[in-house]
Amino acid sequence: MIIAIDGPAASGKGTLGKRLAKHYGYRHLDTGVIYRAVAKAMLDAGADLNDEMLAVSAALELDPENFGNPALKTQAVGDAASVVSAIPGVREVLLSFQRRFAEDSPGAVLDGRDIGTVICPDADVKIFVVADPVVRARRRTLEAKARGEVADEAAVLADILRRDERDKNRATAPLKPAADAYLLDNSNLDIEGGVRAAIDIVEAVRAGRQRV
Ligand code: DC
Repeated sequence: MIIAIDGPAASGKGTLGKRLAKHYGYRHLDTGVIYRAVAKAMLDAGADLNDEMLAVSAALELDPENFGNPALKTQAVGDAASVVSAIPGVREVLLSFQRRFAEDSPGAVLDGRDIGTVICPDADVKIFVVADPVVRARRRTLEAKARGEVADEAAVLADILRRDERDKNRATAPLKPAADAYLLDNSNLDIEGGVRAAIDIVEAVRAGRQRV
């Protein structure tokens, strides 16, 4: 079974993906990390983030061993990832890696922006996670502070809104729910509530019940 989870920045889809994978004993891929790794390579090289040739070669040289690097989690890298991920050549290079990951047994949960629409259009379950931007900014600020970073909630909100705009309006694989995705609004849910709601959706689909 393949579970696709998409949604905007800081919607909580990453945590949800990890928890769902654990619950079902599936593998999990946070696809944002891949774009973040390309962005970090570009930043480290002092490259222009819009340089398609350099970005494509950074994508070709990615080493999944580095996906756990905590330096990929910063706001600056996330913002840069939103820029490099709009480059069609970068997306093309990263597509087959994601598809291969999705298809290996016993099952997989992938979270990102275009999993249900482009990477795994035939996913068994598609969930599109949304949350109020103000709530997302608050959560992201708390996370950053917990990591010991300085974070200003208003600046985080501005960054989230800027990234939403860029991710939704790019020409290639924009952020949008697949026609057959279930919407999960977790603005008023804590992590456990969001996980339960997602499991309910998966179970409803498994049981072949009516769409919720
Ligand atoms: O989910 P995240 O914040 O780690 O993602 C960082 C950026 O990567 C995001 O702003 C857009 C891009 N991204 C993408 O284009 N497609 C994906 N499947 C995942 C992330």
